[in-house]
Amino acid sequence: MNASQPRWWDQAVIYQVYPRSFQDSDGDGIGDLAGIESRLDHLVWLGVDALWLSPIYPSPLADMGYDVADHCAVAPELGDMDDFDRLVARAHELGLKLLLDFVPSHTSIEHPWFREHPEYYVWADEAPNNWVAAFGGPAWTLDEETGRYYLHSFYPEQPDLDWRVPEVREAMGDVIRFWTARGVDGFRADALQQLMKDPGLRDDPPATTPYPLPLGDDYGRLDHVHSEAGPDIGIALKAMREAAGDAFLVGEVYRPTKDLGPYLEHLDAAFAFELLHSPFDEEHLAEVVAEGQQMGRVAWALSNHDFPRLATRFGEERAARAAEFLLSLPGTVFLYQGDEIGMVDGPGADPPYDRAGRDSCRHPMQWEPEPLGGFTTGEPWLALTDPERRSVAAQRGVDGSSLELYRRLIAARRSDPDE
Ligand code: GLC
Repeated sequence: MNASQPRWWDQAVIYQVYPRSFQDSDGDGIGDLAGIESRLDHLVWLGVDALWLSPIYPSPLADMGYDVADHCAVAPELGDMDDFDRLVARAHELGLKLLLDFVPSHTSIEHPWFREHPEYYVWADEAPNNWVAAFGGPAWTLDEETGRYYLHSFYPEQPDLDWRVPEVREAMGDVIRFWTARGVDGFRADALQQLMKDPGLRDDPPATTPYPLPLGDDYGRLDHVHSEAGPDIGIALKAMREAAGDAFLVGEVYRPTKDLGPYLEHLDAAFAFELLHSPFDEEHLAEVVAEGQQMGRVAWALSNHDFPRLATRFGEERAARAAEFLLSLPGTVFLYQGDEIGMVDGPGADPPYDRAGRDSCRHPMQWEPEPLGGFTTGEPWLALTDPERRSVAAQRGVDGSSLELYRRLIAARRSDPDE
């Protein structure tokens, strides 16, 4: 790749769609692909360049779709392959690029590979070390069927793939090729810090200094020098890059910005998570941005489906100031659905869908100032938060609204990309 050649994503604004919560088209209370297609005009009006869809694949939903049971299909509740093809075609007609979420580090435990190709995963006769899972508890779980332990960096329902196995790289490369052949313009690649671990499976030492990014309690007790970010990450990323060709690859590498170098050798961009977690403090923000710029090709975001929403963290007024700041940054910028209308966290669900407590930032999009927010005509899978208080319809054309501010900032960015 010629680094000096301008690419569509260089200064792009990319809008993250959380498919289950964007727009329901069939009244089952779950957002779907046809719903997304019907709302593309919102994205065009807002002025973004692309949309990224959080996982759309069949999944038992232990991790709300990040536990993939079939990488080359559409979850039935979201639609089918025809819906997908129509969505891509329509997005392209409207001048929007489309990114999928690529989840390489693990599969669902219900993925057929887990039984048919156990050699794709990481096994041991006994839990061989002290590694812990990101959401708490040991990273090794006994598989009753084989009497052996398998490694999982996240929930026990998400066994880790072993990217040192050439067949894994080939099979996951096929996944990338499957979707690019259907017209996908790129991928947000999930949890890349977990792809390569210490081949000797050595213990992680205890953490001695606070980590620069928030971690789960259990997870934060260790210094993840062996369970994450193996030095041979290039093997995995090279395979991904080869499969993706010149499609855009942005990595979710949940590590401090200073560690992104080896990832950026193969990816087009990687998120600078210190920005997302920065307090509303000018000095700190400036530092984080300077570090990102020094690293080069970092992608900026102030919220996503994993953390409390921007307006919840900062309050309404500061959230607007933060949006001004975000949209003035050089490089690729990501917006999370709903932030443009200042959506705040909702109450979540009881019992929760997500055991790690992330339901509250995943409530449905609020289109209309009415009880179901124009999101569905049925029973929403997760309640609406406050559609009567804020919605797209109520803010559109209203001077001083959050929505008009976002639109203006995106337009300004487009007219002067260097600003
Ligand atoms: C990423 C996703 C998160 C998911 C995890 C495991 O961090 O953003 O939602 O739980 O990876 O796939």
